[in-house]
Amino acid sequence: MKVNKMNFTFSSVPENVTITRMLASALGAQLDLTINELEELKVAVSEAVSNAIIHGYSNHPDCFVTLEFEATDEKLLIDVIDNGCGIPDVKQAMQASFSTDPERMGLGFIFMQSFMDELRVQSEVGNGTRVSMVKYLKSNHSSSH
Ligand SMILES: Nc1ncnc2c1ncn2[C@@H]1O[C@H](COP(=O)(O)OP(=O)(O)OP(=O)(O)O)[C@@H](O)[C@H]1O
Ligand SMILES: [Mg+2]
Repeated sequence: MKVNKMNFTFSSVPENVTITRMLASALGAQLDLTINELEELKVAVSEAVSNAIIHGYSNHPDCFVTLEFEATDEKLLIDVIDNGCGIPDVKQAMQASFSTDPERMGLGFIFMQSFMDELRVQSEVGNGTRVSMVKYLKSNHSSSH
């Protein structure tokens, strides 16, 4: 089966969130996602990348975030990785409205969960966080491009 992999490592600056949205959108368009699915994919990716920058690295701009894509006919795998502070209690962090920042809504993980088909969060305090997301693709019409 054909596999298309891409890895991007970029500085932890907020303007790169926009670029990751564009990358997700460009790849999603090749996979024949609907407009709505594309929007959802962009939100899921940008929420994970924002979390890495804001929470993982406390907005320090001199760190790095890695975004990995792996697309097959069946599914799109997306991993967002930081080497930041880590999450002490992942289950709690993933609950609706939970945030360690009182200014925030605590909805990022909820968006990722509802817009993607699978969400897995691996994290170690002091070591960082890997957010793995899966989107299943409807492969009823084979892609010609
Ligand atoms: N990459 C990360 N590194 C460290 N902590 C994280 C990371 N991602 C999430 N968290 C923790 O999980 C909590 C919940 O994340 P979530 O995205 O759901 O909400 P939020 O970022 O606080 O608010 P919102 O996404 O609505 O702006 C965060 O407040 C933070 O404490
Ligand atoms: Mg968030």
